[in-house]
Amino acid sequence: VIARDAVGQDVTVEGWVATHLPGSRELVEGIKGDATYLTVKQDKTIQDFGIVAVCTHLGCVVPWVQAENKFICPCHGSQYNMDGKVVRGPAPLSLALSHIETDTGNVVFKP
Ligand code: FES
Repeated sequence: VIARDAVGQDVTVEGWVATHLPGSRELVEGIKGDATYLTVKQDKTIQDFGIVAVCTHLGCVVPWVQAENKFICPCHGSQYNMDGKVVRGPAPLSLALSHIETDTGNVVFKP
């Protein structure tokens, strides 16, 4: 499934890294239509997994908070580190990850 951006366009690797700073995380539409973060790494490649932005507590969409270098859920305060690993509850589990392939020039989620 090709990732789609906020306006429904297919996400290309070249276009995405050209418009996003290294270290940035931004939402695209993921494999089941769920909001998923793409990360641009410091070497200007795209991290090979997406982080599904659905809190594992009760399902709120979790924003990335650059100043704290964490994902922080606005609903009940769960926190996840930069790789989506839960570091503060009440969330019981880390954020789900979604495997990505980029060898076609597009960002493609693999089941
Ligand atoms: Fe995220 Fe409750 S839904 S902490």
